[in-house]
Amino acid sequence: MKPQLGLVVFCFATFSTFVHGAWIERRQNDLQPSVEEFRDFIYSRPDIHDGFNNMFWQIPNATEYENDPTGLLPQTRDIPTMLKRLNDMLAGPPKYGPGYIPFPLGTILIWPMCTEAGLGTFRNAEVSSHLGNILKAWAAFLSTGESRSTLNNGTYGWLKEEVLGRDFCDTYVCDPREEYWGFKSWDDFFTRPLRPGKRPIDAPNNASVVVSGADSTPLRIARNVKETDEFWVKGEPYSLRDMLNNDPRTPQFANGTVYQAFLAALNYHRWHSPVNGTVVSVETVQGTYCALSPSIGFNATEHPDPPAEEFSQIFMTNVATRSIVLIEADNKDIGLMAFIAVGMIEISSCEPTVNVGDRVNKGDQLGMFHYGGSTHVLIFRPEVDIEFIEGMEDAIRDGTVILLGKEIAVVKPQTA
Ligand SMILES: *[C@@H]1O[C@H](CO)[C@@H](O)[C@H](O)[C@H]1NC(C)=O
Ligand SMILES: *[C@@H]1O[C@H](CO)[C@@H](O)[C@H](O)[C@H]1NC(C)=O
Ligand SMILES: *[C@@H]1O[C@H](CO)[C@@H](O)[C@H](O)[C@H]1NC(C)=O
Ligand SMILES: *[C@@H]1O[C@H](CO)[C@@H](O)[C@H](O)[C@H]1NC(C)=O
Ligand SMILES: *[C@@H]1O[C@H](CO)[C@@H](O)[C@H](O)[C@H]1NC(C)=O
Ligand SMILES: *[C@@H]1O[C@H](CO)[C@@H](O)[C@H](O)[C@H]1NC(C)=O
Repeated sequence: MKPQLGLVVFCFATFSTFVHGAWIERRQNDLQPSVEEFRDFIYSRPDIHDGFNNMFWQIPNATEYENDPTGLLPQTRDIPTMLKRLNDMLAGPPKYGPGYIPFPLGTILIWPMCTEAGLGTFRNAEVSSHLGNILKAWAAFLSTGESRSTLNNGTYGWLKEEVLGRDFCDTYVCDPREEYWGFKSWDDFFTRPLRPGKRPIDAPNNASVVVSGADSTPLRIARNVKETDEFWVKGEPYSLRDMLNNDPRTPQFANGTVYQAFLAALNYHRWHSPVNGTVVSVETVQGTYCALSPSIGFNATEHPDPPAEEFSQIFMTNVATRSIVLIEADNKDIGLMAFIAVGMIEISSCEPTVNVGDRVNKGDQLGMFHYGGSTHVLIFRPEVDIEFIEGMEDAIRDGTVILLGKEIAVVKPQTA
């Protein structure tokens, strides 16, 4: 059984109103500005208004879709309920639900996202921009001290062994004796740094060894990847020109190799360099937040893929909000390579922490994700003779996490 990407969802803010009296007081009657703007946009645009109405109507009237994916709340089936739940989301930090990893936005929208109307509407750039603003407002809240209200060991708190394991503050910078374990905000907890030495780098002096850039589960290796592909139709393929946001260097990667691996909700959320090299480009692309692959919708032959575990993760590399870091590796047999950190649904931001011209060594930090399950890809040029480690296929099949700094591949010297 593959571990879930983490888009197992739980509608905290709203659920909490049933179980947590204190939260009712904190709820806001008025819509927050970003939600109000989204409402005004929806009602001012008949096409978008129809798109949202249709996605709620197109959710099958089957028992299994009566409730949201947590089974705790009736499925959102109209625009006012959606807006109210988005507004509720903004009023609090994620609460750990016993047995759940909370993804409030996914909880509200995952079934609508799987409908034909949803697949289309969430590709709209203005819809994405509004969702981006709502997530930015949430991210701002998650950076405040107030967002620490779930950093405790209560029923819905995160700071306990059953959630974080036994050695958490041994691995990450925190102190269980301090209030909130020393975290300054919920985001500070989510983006916690590792303690030195906790992720030793394999073969630090051997330039032919490429290491894992994140604590992540390999999903797919694709060879001979096309410069452009019709991913809208087929859903699954990588399309380099889309992934790289039309970067002029895209042709250099045509027919190259893509390695994709995902980070689960409780994994470490920073990303690091897989090689020694120089950063030659850093770009963060505002893309979609909730657009899923057409191949997973309710019309698909297989049942929809609510955890977005497979096809949508690949699809999202082409369209989602993402940070693209190009690195010129010191090893000429690798040369120019790409690292793309891809946000998924709740991600409020992918934040690169390097600049053009920076020298990076294997294992040096490149950036981080702020809240959410997320995925990343490495792209190598077609000339690169790259061989992935024995056991990679097993890791893909079994969903094994490969830690940051572990060898993932060896690049062979070019013979020609
Ligand atoms: C579900 O039922 C509602 C109300 O009867 C209807 O408007 C909607 O079209 C139905 N949806 C589907 C997918 O059949
Ligand atoms: C929970 O936290 C409180 C306050 O920090 C502490 O007194 C208590 O011992 C903790 N309980 C457990 C089970 O760790
Ligand atoms: C680097 O690692 C590769 C793969 O393990 C190995 O074949 C090669 O001999 C190593 N090179 C050096 C200089 O140690
Ligand atoms: C990477 O750079 C560091 C620092 O200069 C150096 O110690 C290390 O040997 C280099 N590794 C490779 C593989 O070139
Ligand atoms: C990529 O492969 C295709 C088909 O194998 C070939 O026609 C094309 O010339 C290749 N492109 C590059 C840039 O190598
Ligand atoms: C999905 O199924 C519905 C009902 O069978 C049909 O009207 C619609 O055209 C289908 N959409 C796609 C994209 O196949």
